Amino acid sequence: MTKILIDCDPGHDDAVALLFAARHLDLVGITTVHGNSSLENTTHNALALMELGGLDIPVACGCAAPLVGNATFAPHIHGKSGLDGATLPQPSLKLVDAHAVDFIIDQAERHRGELVVAVIGPQTNLALALRREPRLAQWLREITVMGGSTTTGNVTPAAEFNIYCDPEAAAAVFASGIPVRMVGLNVTRRTGFTSADVDRLRSSSRRVAGVIADLLAFYLARQRESFGLDLAPMHDVCAIIPYAFPDLIRYGQTTVQVELGGALTRGMTVCDLRAFHPGTRLPAQLAQDGHVQVALEAESRLLIDRVIETILAYP
Ligand code: RIB
Ligand code: CA
Repeated sequence: MTKILIDCDPGHDDAVALLFAARHLDLVGITTVHGNSSLENTTHNALALMELGGLDIPVACGCAAPLVGNATFAPHIHGKSGLDGATLPQPSLKLVDAHAVDFIIDQAERHRGELVVAVIGPQTNLALALRREPRLAQWLREITVMGGSTTTGNVTPAAEFNIYCDPEAAAAVFASGIPVRMVGLNVTRRTGFTSADVDRLRSSSRRVAGVIADLLAFYLARQRESFGLDLAPMHDVCAIIPYAFPDLIRYGQTTVQVELGGALTRGMTVCDLRAFHPGTRLPAQLAQDGHVQVALEAESRLLIDRVIETILAYP
């Protein structure tokens, strides 16, 4: 069973990703970061989700702001609390007595060669861990990222939220030389719960599924208002799925760089897709340098069905 640590900013899709990972993988720990809401809110939400799922998984609190500039939140999507739409149980778990950056390093050393780090929010914690402990490049098996896009962004025409919130951190992660698996909006915005899927959770009369149904009803309504999207996109679950159901997302090996200076394109993930389009020969050097698996397409309906089955398996 894959050992995974999830760095997240819960967040409605983060919430489903955590519950999914806890059922299918060896979830050794959770670290929280600024993003969908303040660090205080994302951390509280992570602990409350552990209570909801009856999970006893260590949670470490991380960075409240990006490497450069100020934090960006998304109350228009996730609400003021970062997880609006349902009443969550009061947490009983306490935070581990370590900063998320140190916790990531400790877990990577403890599980050398085995640990996958899933970063499904801004990548500030992981970038600082890589800076503090360069041996992570040897210790980590892989990094799986929800972030970026091979097409358009969602915060700007070019930038996706997680990368936009901390482009310098993302640039450091992609440049680390550690194998990276990236799933971007080109796949995730088409992979989500319909209102019928939400109703299926609610009609199950199962406690956890009922709360997730309320959360996703809120999230779906905000997607309609903000993007005209009639779907509750499971962006973050897509970064976790390959370790439980390997064949649901197709990837291509290439290079990904993050734009830092562009007035219009700061936070863009520049994915070199020339290798995948006939007639656009990839320079030999780039073909060798490609250490990023970029998600190109997914069996979205099958993927969501696996997620629904997982949520329904909770009490
Ligand atoms: O752009 C989508 C990403 O930003 C997801 O991780 C969502 O949770 C938000 O963090
Ligand atoms: Ca997230």
